[in-house]
Amino acid sequence: MTQKGVTIWFTGLSGAGKSTIAHVLANRFHEAGLRFEILDGDVVRTNLSKGLGFSKEDRDTNIRRIGFVAHLLTRNGVIVICAAISPYRAIRDEVREMIGDFVEVYAAAPLETCEERDVKGLYKKARAGELKEFTGISDPYEEPLHAEVVCHTDKETPQQSAQKILNRLVELGYLPPIFRGED
Ligand code: ADX
Repeated sequence: MTQKGVTIWFTGLSGAGKSTIAHVLANRFHEAGLRFEILDGDVVRTNLSKGLGFSKEDRDTNIRRIGFVAHLLTRNGVIVICAAISPYRAIRDEVREMIGDFVEVYAAAPLETCEERDVKGLYKKARAGELKEFTGISDPYEEPLHAEVVCHTDKETPQQSAQKILNRLVELGYLPPIFRGED
């Protein structure tokens, strides 16, 4: 299957479901034999961005690095799935500009939902003051104003959210119609 490079850029709070949906998408691409790559914030921070913290400056550096790799892959026809909080609108717009073929996906779970889930136990630590600059608690999150897809992950299953994204990618001409489905 001929494929077109595109970056699927997730943004959203920790625990909003970015990585979960990213892996559902990855499975679909894998099954279809498409070339894809996942750049996950948690993973990138153990290698490419090792040593970076969570100040605005460090987060911006992290996002620029992820954006740069995504740019290289996208222009070589790879489907790139980026899953980092990427809390600042301006830097997301900067990487959008650089990459061009860019589809922003807002994993939009309310803070209360993410905090209730607290998959990694970090919200509890942040509330206790043990973790500084925690997004949504003691650090800003700027929601997207023009995301191509908004996934209400408190109301949708990861499969439904993934299908919604696939439908949008078909609509935008990045995937063939075979990927279309009921969301
Ligand atoms: S970003 O802001 O630079 O985009 P990124 O997605 O790479 O963040 O990393 C966020 C992950 O780091 C969270 O999912 C969480 O596991 C962990 N983390 C540790 N400290 C913080 C913090 N202060 N704020 C947000 N996430 C944190």
